[in-house]
Amino acid sequence: MSTTPVNVTVTGAAGQIGYALLFRIASGAMLGPDTPVRLRLLEIPQAVKAAEGTAMELDDCAFPLLDGVDIFDDATAAFDGVNVALLVGARPRGPGMERGDLLAANGGIFGPQGAAINAGAADDVRVLVVGNPANTNALIAASSAPDVPTERFTAMMRLDHNRALAQLAQKTGTGVADVTNVTIWGNHSAKQYPDVAHATIGGRPAPEVIGDDAWVTDTFIPTVAKRGAAIIDARGASSAASAANAAIDHVRDWVLGTPAGEWTSVGMVSDGSYGVPEGLISGFPAVSTGGAWEIVQGLSVSETAQAGIDVSVGELTEERDAVKELGLI
Ligand code: NAD
Ligand code: LMR
Repeated sequence: MSTTPVNVTVTGAAGQIGYALLFRIASGAMLGPDTPVRLRLLEIPQAVKAAEGTAMELDDCAFPLLDGVDIFDDATAAFDGVNVALLVGARPRGPGMERGDLLAANGGIFGPQGAAINAGAADDVRVLVVGNPANTNALIAASSAPDVPTERFTAMMRLDHNRALAQLAQKTGTGVADVTNVTIWGNHSAKQYPDVAHATIGGRPAPEVIGDDAWVTDTFIPTVAKRGAAIIDARGASSAASAANAAIDHVRDWVLGTPAGEWTSVGMVSDGSYGVPEGLISGFPAVSTGGAWEIVQGLSVSETAQAGIDVSVGELTEERDAVKELGLI
């Protein structure tokens, strides 16, 4: 077992995703069975007491890999020495709140958190933004951290990716492990573009196994893209355990590598690939080798798929322009 614990900072630690996430990190599900972790929980002052309760429960689990838990209400302290930062805490959209209001409120969170990461994070810091609007919040945080390579700031598309795997497995009567190389392009929003063109199911091309192009267009794509809203409608609260699970999957694959021959979906900074303007944080097909994400290059993209990608990327561009206008990037 390695002896130096990895510092993992989780923001919004007393929220519902935080509660589903922390115990799995402490159990070794994220960084593997040989890596001790030190949890650093960041909350707003009003929620520190609840975070203390969660920390008591973490103690009571007696996880062998958990080196300790520290609780903060100050971002600079919480991100000091951080190796893995999970930015979950965000301002939810309130009644009567316009998109611009939400972006401004979150700018007030992710700007200072990006600056705190810039000031004190470890050299190998990796950041995953979960709090919505995740892609643009990641862009804000990255812009406030000029000394950290932008590639280290990612946004979570993995929940959408996992949702797509499950829908495809259910439709074709296979297991989720038989489904590979789905891509979720663009924004983590209802305008995302879930793409099965290069996916395989049981080693065969997915479109052939599905055998029903209309189902892909009329059922699969809207089901995956609107799944977040469907969960809110059913549960009365947004997805939490599945979001935490996706965060674990994202960081595990980033640090430990993606399986050979398989890619996943990652919200990462565009280098201009696939017509996505450079600098936007967009969903791409990506592999991780040697601890860094790389966009899978050279995939053929049909006119229909490119149109879907362009719509989603158009939304990301609008969000970027709005936060630029607000002086947040
Ligand atoms: P929640 O309201 O249960 O918890 C959010 C927590 O963040 C609260 O405890 C709050 O006190 C805390 N918080 C607010 N501002 C903070 C700040 N400045 N610093 C530290 N903590 C702060 O919400 P949740 O269900 O845990 O969801 C969190 C976010 O994740 C939401 O924005 C939600 O929309 C988003 N989400 C994203 C995905 C995705 O796939 N990217 C999926 C599900 C949910
Ligand atoms: C999800 O995809 O479940 C969430 O992003 C939905 C939301 O708006 O919180």
